Amino acid sequence: MKVTISLIKADIGGWVGHSVVHPKQEELARKKLQEAKETGLLIDYYVFHAGDDLQLLMTHTKGEANPEVHKLAWDTFVEVTEKVSKPLKLYGAGQDLLSDTFSGNIRGMGPGVAEMEIEERKSEPILVFSADKTEPGAWNYKLYKIFADPFNTAGLVIDPSMHDGFTFEIMDVIEHKIVHMNAPEELYDILALIGTPSRYVVRKVYRKKDKLIAASASVTRLSLIAGRYVGKDDPVLIVRAQHGLPAVGEILEAFSFPHLVAGWMRGSHHGPLMPVPLKYAKCTRFDGPPRVVGLGFQLHNGTLEGPVDLFDDPAFDYTRTIAQQVTDYMRRHGAFMPHRLGPEEMEYTTLPGVLEKLKDRFQKAED
Ligand code: F6R
Ligand code: MG
Ligand code: MG
Repeated sequence: MKVTISLIKADIGGWVGHSVVHPKQEELARKKLQEAKETGLLIDYYVFHAGDDLQLLMTHTKGEANPEVHKLAWDTFVEVTEKVSKPLKLYGAGQDLLSDTFSGNIRGMGPGVAEMEIEERKSEPILVFSADKTEPGAWNYKLYKIFADPFNTAGLVIDPSMHDGFTFEIMDVIEHKIVHMNAPEELYDILALIGTPSRYVVRKVYRKKDKLIAASASVTRLSLIAGRYVGKDDPVLIVRAQHGLPAVGEILEAFSFPHLVAGWMRGSHHGPLMPVPLKYAKCTRFDGPPRVVGLGFQLHNGTLEGPVDLFDDPAFDYTRTIAQQVTDYMRRHGAFMPHRLGPEEMEYTTLPGVLEKLKDRFQKAED
């Protein structure tokens, strides 16, 4: 049976500030998706949040980029904005809804989308990850570790089904182009690209020998759509696990190192990506630090059996402790790089204005 998994998310108003989604927003979203389940559009759904982003996880048989499913997500975001965010004056009500009218595909309209159509295997463990206060390129490091680093994923060496490696679909989000590259043969070239996560973003990963889809990530960059700073594009990711793909534990292992990502306060700072359970999926210190939730489901005929809250485990306490030490260390840099992002990433902030204001005061320097 072919099943499509669609994870669509948007920040449509925060409670309080940019910290977390309001329970009433989730409640209404659940009602909308329940109705869609009853009409048969959806097989199943799960509504949750990561920080101030409302997350709609949906399963159906309509394929990727389906107008009906995307419209359902769009209408849900609009209705929650009108009926909850605005009356409660939640912060930034409807902020990610960059258009007035739905155009058939929610991609490019503000919300983030990760989707994959799969032939459901005999047993189909699915992991979804949602991060807040960072950008889609934040997954690059994780996906490299999971699908290309044998020090992370033992199966790359041990499991004959994985031994051939994986194909990375990488998107240049500035030029709007994609390239397919193979691991392990092209590891160094892959790293040359994805080591610049603000520009080159891993969008999909396939098992090389049979092109089986293994991972799908959102790649929206809101500021490139809107042409101004409108917040970071807190990303989502779907990964399939086990039986010839990385094991659940190999996928999670990539999250044991809280690597530095761009985002955090005002979308303008580097900070550690901290894995947290749902109960800590809210951003606090300096509007962060950036965090990620991970939920596991066993799919059966499209039904989402779960979630298992994967980072709700003392095994990740040490990672969280390091993340907090790094948080403190980075914060001491104040407005200095590399805590604050570099000038090219500050394009949509005050920096161009400051330079414009000073342009007549700059004088030629003597040699
Ligand atoms: C980052 C984020 C927050 C805001 C910050 C200022 O993605 O959403 O850190 O940038 O709270 O928000 P405003 O300018 O709305 O007061
Ligand atoms: Mg927000
Ligand atoms: Mg957010």
